[in-house]
Amino acid sequence: MRTQVGIIGAGPAGLLLSRLLTLQGIDSVVLENRSREYVEGRIRAGILEQHSVDTLIEAGVGDRLQREGLEHRGIYLQYPGTRFALDFKELCGRTVWVYGQTEVVKDLITTQLDGGPPLLFEVSDVVPEEVDGESPRIRFTDAEGNPQVLECDVIAGCDGFHGVSRPVVTAGARGQLWERTYPYAWLGILADAAPATDELIYSWHPEGFALYSMRSPSVSRLYIQVDPSEKIENWSDERIWDALDTRFAHEGWSVNRGRVTDKSILPMRSFVSAPMRRGRLFLAGDAAHIVPPTGAKGLNLAVADVTRLAGALVRLLHEKQSDLVDVYSDKALERVWRCTHFSWFMTSMMHRSGDDFDAQLQLSQLRRIHDSEAAARELAENYTGLPIES
Ligand code: FAD
Ligand code: DHB
Repeated sequence: MRTQVGIIGAGPAGLLLSRLLTLQGIDSVVLENRSREYVEGRIRAGILEQHSVDTLIEAGVGDRLQREGLEHRGIYLQYPGTRFALDFKELCGRTVWVYGQTEVVKDLITTQLDGGPPLLFEVSDVVPEEVDGESPRIRFTDAEGNPQVLECDVIAGCDGFHGVSRPVVTAGARGQLWERTYPYAWLGILADAAPATDELIYSWHPEGFALYSMRSPSVSRLYIQVDPSEKIENWSDERIWDALDTRFAHEGWSVNRGRVTDKSILPMRSFVSAPMRRGRLFLAGDAAHIVPPTGAKGLNLAVADVTRLAGALVRLLHEKQSDLVDVYSDKALERVWRCTHFSWFMTSMMHRSGDDFDAQLQLSQLRRIHDSEAAARELAENYTGLPIES
């Protein structure tokens, strides 16, 4: 088997890269080790920056997003006694969209399977090889158990945090890693309940952070800060709703309860691996970096990476110029570190940990954002996202 770009991983990064390359006349094959049902069912991120929305629309996979996505012009921040709105549109002229990652992935898979390049599910033993030369290849076993070799011009490692690509890159000489684990986790639920709020609410509370988000006019997505050692079995639906009531308490307002359809605990970490390239193997998305979810940057960073990578690969494969692939890693990492900082900032400001001194610093920062348009604008610009350069 032969293709121009062998893509490992059918998450948002791998699928969108394949789509962007197809539109530029470059062929690819996407290899995914899970089933289609599994990939489409994974509940993850829910907020798209305007630039991610624009990219998906330009890539021809934005029809349902435009019909069903919910445009949001801001968020609420809350601490006991105060809930205030940040109007992103007023502060920086941009908005964000609520549209689940599961839906983005479904739209990309549907488009790809409808006459797009090959997308092979349930492959195993995926190994990128000869990445330092001009003719890399990927060995894998197909869903029927047959060993295969995919000869490529370039390999894109879009296989997430636990994938096989990053270890191949870091085995190269100059690899560097930065990591921060946080002393808390998120317990997230999906509920058949109309959101009781028009915008997302990020709430600081002495008992821990809570986030009120949504997926549609009838589905709420809610999170509470818990200890990373917590077991999901210890959290009955009743206990979760009670914690949400406490942490969102606000005069004359209450959380809408409904049937809980999904419940899970997510660890929180920051992680950056550099460089994002070794020879003809390029990393994109969670394969190279992880941000804690506060501020919703993970999916958007994956979109930004592959937009840049697609442009660089078009230049390499069509025009035989390596200038853009040569700066891919450094340029992508500039955005990665901006988002890593913002996610760390939001996470550190909103979660309870440490002592009362830490709590007073957090409250002082929240009051600053409440009182200062400059501080509010700084948050708005980062939340809605910087332009994506391709
Ligand atoms: P992924 O979505 O991880 O896709 C990688 C793909 O590669 C997967 O389909 C995987 O099965 C496949 N793969 C892995 N190994 C191999 C292999 N060896 N061979 C072939 N295929 C392989 N971000 C937010 O902004 N907000 C959130 O609320 C949020 N919640 C999250 C909850 C969870 C549980 C997780 C894990 C992440 C969450 N994120 C969230 C982050 C966001 O979902 C990711 O940043 C985003 O999925 C990155 O996309 P990706 O394509 O790079 O990686
Ligand atoms: C969602 C997740 C986030 O991390 C966030 O900051 C906002 C919303 C969500 O899943 O809806």
